[in-house]
Amino acid sequence: MSTSAEPGRTWPLVGRAAELDDLDDLLSTAVDGVGVTVLLEGEAGVGKTSLVDALRGSARLLDIELRTAQASGCGASPFALLSDALLVRSPGASSGRGPVESELADLLDAMDADPVRSVARYERAAELFAALLRRHGDTRPWALVLEDVHEADAPSLEVLLQLAHEGAVPRALVVLTMRPVPYRPELAEVVAAWTRAGARYLELRPLSPRATVELAESLVGGPVGPSLRGTLATTGGNPRLVVDVVRTARDTGALVSGDGVLDTAGALWLTPLDEVVRQRVEYLGPEVLALLGQASVLGMSFVIADLASVVGEPVADCWRTLRHGLAAGVVRARGDRLVFGHDLVRGALYNGLDPETRRALHARAAWALRQAGAPSQIVTAHLERAR
Ligand SMILES: Nc1ncnc2c1ncn2[C@@H]1O[C@H](COP(=O)(O)OP(=O)(O)OP(=O)(O)O)[C@@H](O)[C@H]1O
Ligand SMILES: [Mg+2]
Repeated sequence: MSTSAEPGRTWPLVGRAAELDDLDDLLSTAVDGVGVTVLLEGEAGVGKTSLVDALRGSARLLDIELRTAQASGCGASPFALLSDALLVRSPGASSGRGPVESELADLLDAMDADPVRSVARYERAAELFAALLRRHGDTRPWALVLEDVHEADAPSLEVLLQLAHEGAVPRALVVLTMRPVPYRPELAEVVAAWTRAGARYLELRPLSPRATVELAESLVGGPVGPSLRGTLATTGGNPRLVVDVVRTARDTGALVSGDGVLDTAGALWLTPLDEVVRQRVEYLGPEVLALLGQASVLGMSFVIADLASVVGEPVADCWRTLRHGLAAGVVRARGDRLVFGHDLVRGALYNGLDPETRRALHARAAWALRQAGAPSQIVTAHLERAR
């Protein structure tokens, strides 16, 4: 199965020259026969799929076979991820299959037909997948991209874990892409095992402010004006949010040209934008979102103890919930403060609070901040919003 980035992509990629060079180098290393595994991690929408998509061209140039599968699109049946990458399971596809593939296909069919877990069948399938992965490069070097392993089925992860214990897959570049959230202990185990096996860890960071504007300009097809730049600055360099901003501005008719630039007019388009952005963070789950929504009242950055006072929960409980937001990059730690990574997300969460709740939170924030010795004008600003 092929993976592909969302529509709205631009080509070539903006601001990823260094990462592309890195991956190309690693691909060449795989050609030389040395196996390389890359753990590519980054927040939702940062461009993981786009980056690995770009490997396609390099693989073609080097005449390397590229196999890809995406966990988020292939269901949760046992070995779904690996079979998507390694087996052609459509009817009539049996020709061209080796004996291992055939046995695997039969085993998977048997599992589909009989959901009662047969340990022997699972173990045999896991063994065969591991063998297939190890031997696939016998004839020719190859690259395997397994996307969104944070959503992978457990048996596929189990195979990846076993594989890590034997070291890099010979003559292969294996790339596992993942979001840091949701946290799954079985994935953490796979990552730890591959780390011990010498895998390269590549954290895909948000785009720089310059690349953020460059991406927007390539999407609108010209220079962008100050108002749109202002909104772009709140995306925290997340390319998906950049695309969302541009697309919403365009779809709502807010994008106008004048003075040689394209810019947004008015503020009406910001309401639908908030809604799009709230959908983007829904994957964090209601508990984390509720706490982040409450935190949004305190501003772009806040002290955890103050948030704990506002919500009336122990600091430790707040931390326990917020660490998911931290891992996801929605908030970042700066000493004893947390800072929202994307002001756009903070604003969307804030605007999504119902007015009465928002006023009550501002009242509690005024009280908590006064207790904590905050300057009076800050306390007053909260009191004004509490009315
Ligand atoms: N460097 C880039 N230059 C141009 N567009 C980009 C870049 N990176 C990402 N995009 C665009 O941003 C959007 C999100 O990118 P992508 O799907 O690659 O992110 P992702 O990290 O795979 O997200 P997810 O965590 O949901 O899998 C897409 O529309 C993609 O085309
Ligand atoms: Mg992706």
